Formats: sequence, structure tokens, C-alpha cells
Amino acid sequence: MNIQWYPGHMTKAKRAMEADIKLIDLIIELVDARLPISSRNPDIDRLGQGKARLILLNKSDLADDTATARWEAWFAEKGYYTVKLNAKTGAGMKSIQGKIAEACKAKIERDRRRGIINRPVRAMVVGIPNVGKSTFINSFAGKAAAKTGNKPGVTKGNQWIRLNKNVELLDTPGILWPRFEDKQVGIRLALVGSINDNILNLTELAGEGIDFFCRSYPGRIAARYEVDESGKNYEVLAAIAIARKCLQKGGEPDIDKAASMFLDDLRGGRLGRISLEWPEEKEASLEDAETG
Ligand code: G4P
Repeated sequence: MNIQWYPGHMTKAKRAMEADIKLIDLIIELVDARLPISSRNPDIDRLGQGKARLILLNKSDLADDTATARWEAWFAEKGYYTVKLNAKTGAGMKSIQGKIAEACKAKIERDRRRGIINRPVRAMVVGIPNVGKSTFINSFAGKAAAKTGNKPGVTKGNQWIRLNKNVELLDTPGILWPRFEDKQVGIRLALVGSINDNILNLTELAGEGIDFFCRSYPGRIAARYEVDESGKNYEVLAAIAIARKCLQKGGEPDIDKAASMFLDDLRGGRLGRISLEWPEEKEASLEDAETG
């Protein structure tokens, strides 16, 4: 299964973001905690050179806690500040202000040496589609946040939201596009529901999901659906269809329906918390690239 998708409007969005980045001190980048590498575009490292960086590992409620802790350490080692977050419930939100202050310490010091005191840090949120940018902005800015009116950026419809006396946030997030160079990136994003299902073969995708569970979380499919998970993907889907009474008119198992149900369960966390990527694999693939 090969997923390639780069809509034309992304070139325009990228240009708009390049302009916005000039106005800010801090980039708040959201990634999906279940797949922190596939859900980011490393171009942001080049675009954001010289800016303070904060990475939010969002949807951490759906991710494997052990993996998320390792990713936090991995990003920290590379010089990013990180927060483990659930933007939907707000869990993790409290520690963000403190991390912003830490991430921007050097800038605040620099301002102070130049005699600029109490200028708020300006931040913008970036991330690929569906990673939780709007949910985060709404929750972080909250109802109390006042828009600060006309300043550069507003010409495009952007507004600065004053979060407190120390931080202003651009109300429109920057949209990044995933990098589909590696076939696995598309599959992983599709599995967690971050690619429009209309362009996918869901039954084939469910097969990839079954492979993933049998490899990384053996026993979970068997436990949830009370089926034998050791057969071929098609057989497992047929068994799920029968177990869940997804049947066609003639009584045959409805594989497509079972595939959709299985993907819904996976995405909604009903098959347990999962991480599709671990830092160890990333390091191993970097070493391969260097030696190969
Ligand atoms: P975007 O702006 O980056 O495109 O993402 P958006 O905020 O629209 O969020 C995409 C989906 O992810 C939404 O679900 C949102 O509720 C969900 N989401 C965001 N953050 C979290 C999180 O930390 N944990 C979980 N479990 N979900 C999160 P949706 O299906 O589009 O809507 P709904 O189910 O909330 O109605």
C-alpha cells in the first residue's frame, strides 16, 4: 500500500507560514504522541532556525506511556523542550507556561540586555493536519483570552491572542505537511486516522493494522474480539466479522464492514494505548542510513 498526497494549496500555506515565522519568538509544534516522527515535517527545523522550540506530544491519552516517556527524553536530548499533552481534556496543559518561560529564557535575557523589558513572547502553533492544533489553541487560549488587535500578521486575518502578560499567540496555526518519503509514514498516519479515508483502501489498511498489532501488541486482537489472531489478515478480518455479526445478506462475513469497525476501534483507543514508533527504531534507521 503506497500513500502519496501533497495538495497544491500546501505550497501557499508554507509561504504564509514562512512569513508568520518572521514575527515570532517561539514555535509550539504539535506531534502525535503515537507516531512523533511520522507526524512531523523536519522542514520546520530549517524554517524555525534561531527560534525557541517547544514540542507538544499530543493525544498522549492514546499512546503507550513507556514510548512517550522515551520520546520526551529523545527530543530533550536534541535540544527541544517537550510537554506530554491531552489537548482534549487539558491534561498536561498546566506545565506549558513554565516550559515556554524556560524555552524563551535566552531571548528574554537578550531583550533585557538591550533594555527591552516585559515584551511578551510571541508564539505560533504548527503541525500537520488532525494533530490537534485547533483543539489546543482553543483550550490553551481559553475564553478569557483577549485578542490584541492590529499588529503585523493581522493583514492576512491573523490575530494575536494575549494569553497573559508574558505570552501572545498567533490565532491561526501553521499547517505542515507530512513527509511521505518512507512508505511506512503514510500507513502509520492512515492507521491513526490522519489521512482522509476516502483516498484509502480500508480493508488493505486494516490488514496493515492487524500486522502491526500481531507484531507489537500480540494478544490484543484476540482478547477484544475473541478470535484467533494467528491466521492470515483476511482470515482474522473474517473472524472479526463473524464475531461482531458483520454479515452480508447471504450470511457471508462482511470483510469491509469488519475492517472499518476494526480501524474505528484502533483509532478510538479501544484496542488499548499504542505507539507505532519508538526512538530506538529511529536511531537504528539513522545508523543504517549512515553505514549503508
Ligand atoms: P487540527 O487543528 O490539527 O487539524 O486538529 P483538531 O484540533 O481539529 O483535532 C483533530 C481531532 O483530534 C479532533 O477529533 C480532536 O478532538 C482530536 N484530539 C485533539 N487532541 C486530542 C487529544 O489529546 N486526545 C484525543 N484523544 N483526541 C484529540 P475529531 O474526531 O475531529 O472530533 P471530536 O471527536 O473531538 O468531535
